[in-house]
Amino acid sequence: MTTALAPGADLARNPKVRQWLADHRPVLLIDNEWVPAKSGKTFETINPTNGQVLSIAAEADRADVDEAVKAAGRAFTEGPWSKMGPGEKARILRTFAGLIEANVDELAELEALDNGMTLATAKAFISVAVESLYYFAGAAQQIFGQTAPSAPTNFNYVLREPIGVVGAITPWNAPICANIWKIAPILAAGNTMVLKPAEQTPLTALRLGELAIEAGLPAGVLNIVTGFGPGAGSAIAEHPQIDKVTFTGSVETGRSILHASTGNLKRITLELGGKSPNIVFPDADMSSAVATSLAGFATISGQVCVAGTRLFVQQDVKDEFVENLSTFAAGIKVGDPLDPETTMGPLASKEQFDRVTGYLDVGRAEGASVAVGGEVIGDQGYFVQPTVFDGVRNDMRIAQEEIFGPVVSVIPFSDEYDAVLQGNDTTYGLAAAVWTRDVSRAHTVARRIKAGTVWINTYLELDPTMPFGGYKQSGIGREFGANWYQHYTEEKSVFLKL
Ligand code: NAI
Ligand code: MG
Repeated sequence: MTTALAPGADLARNPKVRQWLADHRPVLLIDNEWVPAKSGKTFETINPTNGQVLSIAAEADRADVDEAVKAAGRAFTEGPWSKMGPGEKARILRTFAGLIEANVDELAELEALDNGMTLATAKAFISVAVESLYYFAGAAQQIFGQTAPSAPTNFNYVLREPIGVVGAITPWNAPICANIWKIAPILAAGNTMVLKPAEQTPLTALRLGELAIEAGLPAGVLNIVTGFGPGAGSAIAEHPQIDKVTFTGSVETGRSILHASTGNLKRITLELGGKSPNIVFPDADMSSAVATSLAGFATISGQVCVAGTRLFVQQDVKDEFVENLSTFAAGIKVGDPLDPETTMGPLASKEQFDRVTGYLDVGRAEGASVAVGGEVIGDQGYFVQPTVFDGVRNDMRIAQEEIFGPVVSVIPFSDEYDAVLQGNDTTYGLAAAVWTRDVSRAHTVARRIKAGTVWINTYLELDPTMPFGGYKQSGIGREFGANWYQHYTEEKSVFLKL
């Protein structure tokens, strides 16, 4: 049964998801209360499989962000969060992780309905999110300060303290993962936060908020404001009582957040886009290189910041590689993400569909040839075929601009020097891969490529133990890794005269 406020409940197959959508009202999470936007404004979130309205979300603006920041500020300065020890915080984060695991089917379907990724992909990303949450729960108890060497007349030490109120602005391509990758380290380091999920995919963030409350997260620690970039997003970026902003999204928005941060000199972490080189040498394990390169540009319909969308293949083996890759790509079953047979769902939004199909035209106009794909599928929803462009030069737009769809540009190279030169010829530097059985070549290329992550004979692997972030215009700062806490804490030097 649907009401005007639950237009898309019937799209759900899981009865719990249907009920959740039927019951859902457009609300924000502020101070552990579910409240409408002060303006009463709402917006629609669309199901990308059929282009119809899935649900209605509250449209936060500056006034709502203000309330959220006040709540986060209180939880930080007065407690309870700042008064809890790291062990107690860790226990809540572990309970939260357990609740996500217990609700994985429901969360995966909600993610698939809002974003368009397949159920299997959603579950895989949720398991990555859960692992990260457990990792940071443990890490909450590992943030050590230092005792400094000092004269016998002094006892000097360094404290590591949380920064304060953190604003987190996230994208729509892998919402649960993106949101947990902000929530987990921010809270583990002892901060409180205001999360703004992307307007295209607000639903699973709200469900995560419910689970966080169920896990015992105290009021004000995690506030969730759904809304648009120019409204809620820029209010966070500019807010004088927000101490740090961490953002994942486009370079353009990253730049405007950096500008906005100058008002109160916020700490900033930016995880931006990429146009990552995936370099295949002739001595590589070709069957593995082909299959993994396909996943490298087609996972979540290619809407992945680290996607390997510039595929450099040594010229002697390039034609055979393109042939095999095209055969594999043609075998991808594009369709309804809730259908278990489907291996690729639609693009997440109309805007993204227009952008990707626009680049299919650009590629053809630039003289690249379509080895496979290149067309839209059906007349409803935002489906495009996985597409391999052959005959691409590295200076073409389809080789330089982030398309954020299942589209790869194959570019030939002559030797190792040429591969590195072309691979680095981009304004981005998020990730790269090299395929070879030659150990020296693998490590040499890994060192020469200017990217925050380099994969050797693999792709798309991420681990909370490994730093993640970009060189050049792919971002500022790193998340995860052994030094993760440096990005969410301040150092304080304490001098004591004995
Ligand atoms: P976007 O960067 O504009 O949106 C990401 C988030 O930023 C959303 O939550 C949005 O509401 C917010 N935002 C937008 N403008 C803002 C502002 N002025 N101040 C504060 N927050 C703001 O990305 P968009 O427009 O959705 O996608 C455009 C392109 O960006 C994509 O086609 C893709 O190339 C790239 N992108 C890269 C992502 C990544 O993971 N690195 C994720 C999403 C998009
Ligand atoms: Mg935008």
